[in-house]
Amino acid sequence: MKSLVLIAIALGGLALAQEPVVRITPEQVTWVRDTDGSGVERATISGDPTKPGLYVIQVKFPPGTMSLNHFHPEDRHVTVLKGTWYTGTGDEFLPDKTIPLKPGSYMKHPAGVHHFDGAKDEEVILRIVGLGPTGTTRLRPELGNYKKAVEDPAKAELDRTAKKHIDGICSTCHTATLITDTQATRDEWLDIVMRMNSKGAGLSEIDVQLLTDYLSKNYGKKP
Ligand code: HEC
Repeated sequence: MKSLVLIAIALGGLALAQEPVVRITPEQVTWVRDTDGSGVERATISGDPTKPGLYVIQVKFPPGTMSLNHFHPEDRHVTVLKGTWYTGTGDEFLPDKTIPLKPGSYMKHPAGVHHFDGAKDEEVILRIVGLGPTGTTRLRPELGNYKKAVEDPAKAELDRTAKKHIDGICSTCHTATLITDTQATRDEWLDIVMRMNSKGAGLSEIDVQLLTDYLSKNYGKKP
């Protein structure tokens, strides 16, 4: 830039030295993967976020990945480019209490505000603009940088079925608290569920296994 100005002055013919126009298509973005195993990727579009001055960066979250609570020393202006971004504030990590922002949305993270956010069902790409130098302070660094925000959808579906059985079948003869107050090993749960079946719970072989898995996972006891 300086040399351009010098050339311009030297030539005397140019009133103003002009910087070249910059165009970057999505395909030209050079992504760099974080080294923490989270799968989160970053790209610098303009400037240098580690240095004073304006920077433009992009961040890509793989599906189901969210940052744990943190804050930055500078205001950050965030635009969602792709996917639905789930945004939360505060000191607790509560993925279910996040506010979804669709592509085209904007959010300002003011300096110092504690937040957590990321992707749930699909990949998310953000463009972030701020005045460097940036930094990230984790509220609980011992927990790492990111966390899986959604369980395996297939597993979540099994859990839903198990809960449906407990509410619809198991709670017809006694309260659900009789179940949730019990702690048992997997073998003991299998015995209980089989015994309840012989009383008339009427679960199929598959549902007996599914429920036994669910109960021993959530109301388990080490053998
Ligand atoms: C037909 C009525 C009936 C249904 C349906 C039923 N229970 Fe029971 N459950 C009982 C009775 C009666 C008891 C009291 C103990 C007994 O008689 O064995 C009991 C006791 C229990 C207990 C207390 C611990 C124990 O070993 O006795 C647990 C836990 C339990 N049931 C879980 C379940 C689960 C899980 C289901 C759903 C798969 C279920 N029950 C469905 C009638 C039922």
